Amino acid sequence: FDCRKDTLWKYKEFMPVDESKIVSLDEGGTPFCKCEKLGKDLGVELYVKVEGSNPTGSFKDRGMSVGMTKAMELGVDTVGCASTGNTSASLAAYAARAGLRCIVLLPSGKVALGKLAQAMFHGAEVLSVNGNFDEALDAVTQLALEKHLYLLNSINPYRLEGQKSIGFEIVHELGWNSPDRIILPVGNAGNISAIWKGITEFHNAGYISNKPMMTGIQAEGASPIADAFRKNAMDIIPVKNPETIATAIRIGAPVSSIKALRAIYDSNGYSETVTDDEILAAQLELARKEGIGVEPASAASIAGLKKLVNDGIVDKGEQVVCVVTGHLLKDPNTAIEASTEPIEIEADVEQLKNILLKNK
Ligand code: F0G
Repeated sequence: FDCRKDTLWKYKEFMPVDESKIVSLDEGGTPFCKCEKLGKDLGVELYVKVEGSNPTGSFKDRGMSVGMTKAMELGVDTVGCASTGNTSASLAAYAARAGLRCIVLLPSGKVALGKLAQAMFHGAEVLSVNGNFDEALDAVTQLALEKHLYLLNSINPYRLEGQKSIGFEIVHELGWNSPDRIILPVGNAGNISAIWKGITEFHNAGYISNKPMMTGIQAEGASPIADAFRKNAMDIIPVKNPETIATAIRIGAPVSSIKALRAIYDSNGYSETVTDDEILAAQLELARKEGIGVEPASAASIAGLKKLVNDGIVDKGEQVVCVVTGHLLKDPNTAIEASTEPIEIEADVEQLKNILLKNK
């Protein structure tokens, strides 16, 4: 028996923070599932990195562990963020663990229920902003510049240091090999930048000899990065009123857009958009075919893979890793709306048998 913990801190030599100050909930070491059925249908070798299995249910915990460790090192008393939901849930939990005051700004009415519940329950001061994520981020950045709080959005480089461990784990799990391609949803564009940083560091250290094509997927109504990629441009044109059912990535002016585009171009990668219908179909397919429950934004990676296979961008037989970023239960309303109502019955065996036979 070996009960050593598998967390991102197994790579602590690559984390530029004071080891004695670590704030951790055992984030990282998430499942890496081979998807035989879906992979066969698409003609690729498919793995899914299940980031919903982190302590608060999203990949943000990796960045927050390292970012909160830095906050402790700096001796701050208040941390804050703007968020489409997951960052606030994660920040609230890690601030509670660190014993710091926590302020979160959320776009009013556009945060999935599970995330809102987490931020409130862990004791964050939750401010509902009349505006979208981009506007909330501008406001909280101003507060940070005036030193009212330590900002833990992904513009904070220590967040990316933590999230680069997704890249570390993927190549580690493949036996120190890079997959042909990594596909992930892109919102504020921190995560694709972070994973590319991790891949590049392990490549430079000599652990891997090749690198994956970084492939960023955006929702059709919130796609400044994919739009720039289509024009082979390095700068984005912000989307004024971003809209998508995948509220996690409902972002019009990603702060890490230049880093993200550089990752995509330097890796010979790709960027594409998917519609809300394609996202919901992929979310359901992953849940029903492979048993992996993810929130809508996360399913953008699977929807993107399907589209890129159809368009001949992804080759047959490619080894592909899709990063699914958040847990199904983050957004229970969307899951319930996509499902049929339970059948009402009496606790009666004859009635039950009839239903089982009828539905066979
Ligand atoms: N998937 C999920 C589930 C997310 O919550 C986010 C971002 C992304 C993908 C996109 O990652 O921003 O690094 O490109 N959520 C942020 C938040 C914006 O506030 O929780 P990104």
